[in-house]
Amino acid sequence: MQSSLSGRSRQRRFLMCRPTYFDVTYAINTWMDPNVPVDTGLAIQQWTALREVYRSLGHEVLEIEPVPGLPDMVFAANGALVIDGRVLGAQFRAPQRAEEAPLYRSWFETAGYPVRTPKYVNEGEGDFVVTDRYVLAGTGFRTEHAAHAEAQEFFGRPVISLRLVDPRFYHLDTALFALDGENVAYFPGAFSEGSQRVLARLFPDALLVEEADAAVLGLNAVSDGHHVVLNAEAVTLAEALTERGYQPIPVDMSELRKAGGGPKCCTLEIRS
Ligand code: ARG
Repeated sequence: MQSSLSGRSRQRRFLMCRPTYFDVTYAINTWMDPNVPVDTGLAIQQWTALREVYRSLGHEVLEIEPVPGLPDMVFAANGALVIDGRVLGAQFRAPQRAEEAPLYRSWFETAGYPVRTPKYVNEGEGDFVVTDRYVLAGTGFRTEHAAHAEAQEFFGRPVISLRLVDPRFYHLDTALFALDGENVAYFPGAFSEGSQRVLARLFPDALLVEEADAAVLGLNAVSDGHHVVLNAEAVTLAEALTERGYQPIPVDMSELRKAGGGPKCCTLEIRS
C-alpha cells in the first residue's frame, strides 16, 4: 500500500461515525434481517481498520459521536451532501433513522458550515455521487425526485436523476461510484432502462461491473482518484481496476454488510 498521496489521487476529508451502537434491530432494506446475530465488536474492528486505511493513504478523518438507539448512524454517507463547503442536510425516509438528520446537521453547524435543512427526503451521499461536471442522484427507493431539484438549486450544479430498480441496490452508492472527477463504475442492472442510456451517454468509458461484484456491495467503494477502497469479495472488480491503472485496496466490511452497508456507506466526504 502506498503511504502517501501521489499522481492522480487527491487528499480527502472524511466524516465517520464509530459503530459503537451498531446492530440490526429493524429491516429497511433487503440486506437487513433482525434474526441474524450481529457482532458489534467485529463491526468496530472492521470500521477501525477502514479508518486507518484512509489515514495511511493520507486522508483526514473526522468523527461524529455515535448515539445509542441509532444503530445505522455508522453510515455517515447518509448524513449530508457537502460540496464547496456548503451542506445539504439529510431527511431520512425511514422513521427509524429520522433522528440522525439533526445530529449530522448540528455537527456541521458546530464546525462552522452553512447548512440547509432539506424540504424533501434525501439520504445524503447515499443517493448523491459527485463528479466534476455533474451530481448524479438516485431515486426509486429512498431519495425523492424533488430532492434532486432542491440539490441542483442549492449547489448550482447540474443534477442528473437516475432511477434505481433493484431493491438490493436501494441507494445510488450501492450501484455506482466515482473513479475520479471524470469517470464512474457501475452495475447497469441496478438502473432503469432509460437511466442506463443516460449513463452510457454521459460516461462512454465507464467501468461496467458484473452482478457478482455488485452483489457483494463491491460498488460501495471510495476512490481518491487512484486508490480504490472496496469490499474484499469484489475480486473481479479489483482486477478490472488494476487493469485501468487504479490501486484497489480491499477491506473486510462483512459485519456492516448485514445492515446493507460497505466502505462508502461509512464515509461522508467533506468537499471544501
Ligand atoms: N441500514 C442502512 C439503511 O438501510 C444502510 C445504509 C447504507 N448507506 C449507504 N450509503 N448506502 O439505511
